[in-house]
Amino acid sequence: MEKENQFYHSVSIGNVKLDGNLFLAPVAGYSDCAFRHLCKSGGANFSYTEMVSAEALVRGSGKTHELMVRAPGEDKYAVQIFGGNPETVAKAALIVADEVKPEVIDINAGCPVPKIVKTGAGSALTRDPDRLYGVVSQTVKALKEAGKDIPVTVKIRSGWDSSSLTWKEAAVASLDGGAAAVTLHPRTRAQGYEGKADWFLLAELVKFVDGRVPVFASGDIFSAENVKACLEQTGVDGVMFARGAMGNPFIFDETKRFLLTGEKYSTPPEVRISAGMEELDILIRLKGEQAACREMRKRFCAYSKGLEKAAQMRSSIVSANTRADFIAIFADYLS
Ligand SMILES: Cc1cc2nc3c(=O)[nH]c(=O)nc-3n(C[C@H](O)[C@H](O)[C@H](O)COP(=O)(O)O)c2cc1C
Repeated sequence: MEKENQFYHSVSIGNVKLDGNLFLAPVAGYSDCAFRHLCKSGGANFSYTEMVSAEALVRGSGKTHELMVRAPGEDKYAVQIFGGNPETVAKAALIVADEVKPEVIDINAGCPVPKIVKTGAGSALTRDPDRLYGVVSQTVKALKEAGKDIPVTVKIRSGWDSSSLTWKEAAVASLDGGAAAVTLHPRTRAQGYEGKADWFLLAELVKFVDGRVPVFASGDIFSAENVKACLEQTGVDGVMFARGAMGNPFIFDETKRFLLTGEKYSTPPEVRISAGMEELDILIRLKGEQAACREMRKRFCAYSKGLEKAAQMRSSIVSANTRADFIAIFADYLS
């Protein structure tokens, strides 16, 4: 049994037992199977795919499958889906269950992108509890009727804007619909990713849910110290790294070490850059060198954070076209 303490501990989502409570959040354009593989190696106890369109799944769009592939060595993961139509989301969940058999299916009720909100999906669900209830309950029912024992979870925001904080109604809709866990990103749709995440609302949600299901935190989790403070201040059962994991998939092990021993550890730059190269190689196998290199430009910008001459490096990174280009840029760190 893994070492545990009051901060770092196992957590169960329905019938799925996770060894620890440090997760990789769903992050479009990042949390694909390549990055999730590295995060798993770097200590993540659980990871979420980037959001996958329920409409596209039901339409049978080929590209969506790529977004939900299980990473090598990933024994447990969640596929996140988005959609505003309960029937479509329920159908999509069955497709996900059949195709990739994830341990958990998560419903996105937080995306602030207008194109998505317009369809009643993403953060539109946080402000429309009836629709959210429909999406969750129909999804839970469809999976149950198909004999799929897959817990359904929901990731919400604090509300639409500062005058419409509907996290409590969204939590009720999720729980009544049968959700096995709730994650709160305590920013409003209007805030996007700006301003401070309001952890006070996480503490309020924990009190409100009162142990019925686990509550997870997302928002301003950038360091081991942030994790400890968030767990201490809010009483959540687990936390998700999103922007904090970009360029450092080892942040999970660093955090676990800090929570268990108080020891602060920073993974050396050469180890992070080598991880970036491994990520590139996985992407090359999946989508070819050109597409992989384009995709890795922004990710290598994150990997270069804190390196000597990072600004200079970034101007080369954004025009790199081949694996050899990246090797040349990071030659000093890869030798
Ligand atoms: C580029 C980007 C893409 C994201 N994509 C998703 C997504 O697909 N699904 C989701 O639920 N949240 C998504 N999020 C939100 C994150 O999961 C997380 O809740 C948010 O970034 C707050 O955490 P942080 O302040 O620690 O970064 C995304 C965030 C960013 C920055």
